[in-house]
Amino acid sequence: MSMNLLKKLIVSAALMTSAVPALVLANEGGFPLDRAPERSTDLVALQNGAKLFVNYCLNCHSASAMRYNRLRDIGLTDEQIKGNLLFTAEKIGELMKTNLSAKDAKTWFGVVPPDLSVIARAKASDRGSGADWLYTYLRSYYRDSSRTTGWNNKEFVNVGMPHALWELQGANRGAVISEVKELKEDKANSEKVTGYTETVSTYDGNGEVTVHTEKLEGEHHHVGKEVELGAATGGKLDAVAYDNAVGDLVAYLQWMGEPGQNSRKRIGVWVVLFMALLATLAWRLNASYWKEVK
Ligand code: HEC
Repeated sequence: MSMNLLKKLIVSAALMTSAVPALVLANEGGFPLDRAPERSTDLVALQNGAKLFVNYCLNCHSASAMRYNRLRDIGLTDEQIKGNLLFTAEKIGELMKTNLSAKDAKTWFGVVPPDLSVIARAKASDRGSGADWLYTYLRSYYRDSSRTTGWNNKEFVNVGMPHALWELQGANRGAVISEVKELKEDKANSEKVTGYTETVSTYDGNGEVTVHTEKLEGEHHHVGKEVELGAATGGKLDAVAYDNAVGDLVAYLQWMGEPGQNSRKRIGVWVVLFMALLATLAWRLNASYWKEVK
């Protein structure tokens, strides 16, 4: 390999590893994630999660790696699936596809809602598991009338998706966003920090914002942004019940990303044993062939 090519490879590898996290972080709030409750083997939770998923997510998102009849694996009967969950299909062997066309989605939201089959795996990062991210995200909506959807999100800033679960959580949650910035007012030295300002944006329950900026006294301040979400009221569920419902939904999303996770481990053992047997046979066969040749 020529030196040049090697250099190129090293440079592009370095670029890839540094560019990817930057892209991922682009519209994330970057705040610590809440931990999702562990419910991956809790069938009651998974069933409730499946119900929430079909009722509140499938109108826009598909889960096209999933067939409805796979829900048997979380303890549902064909009758239950047909009777309660089959909204976007006719037969239980069909895939979980949304009825929303990509074209309409583009017009309404500016983006096509991504397929959610493996979303829990896709959202894992060094900040936490994908389930943690989803659990935090679905509990971080607040009203913001400057957005076309009327909603914004602490974890996914300026998200194109409206608050799908507002009926459950309530439609009037505000937020207070405080941002401390450096002031650089020295004409002779534009790099010099001359002071700090704090801007507080208060979103009321209708998403109307009042902005207040003031200079901060004192030499040193921590630069950055804080978002404090208001209390949600007026939904079908109270705060504890809402978190609980989101916990179930996230457990379901996680299960959907790897529906075979429990049987996979069992099968794995047999695969290894089988491979070992095959290797032994191949080795014996090889030995006996070469005996003939000599
Ligand atoms: C009204 C349509 C709509 C509904 C209903 C909806 N979503 Fe979305 N969702 C979107 C759109 C549009 C985006 C893309 C947002 C963006 O990129 O700004 C999105 C993005 C997401 C993302 C982020 C994906 C990523 O790659 O970052 C997740 C996770 C998500 N939705 C989960 C859900 C769940 C769970 C539900 C059900 C509770 C749901 N959505 C209901 C429209 C919807």
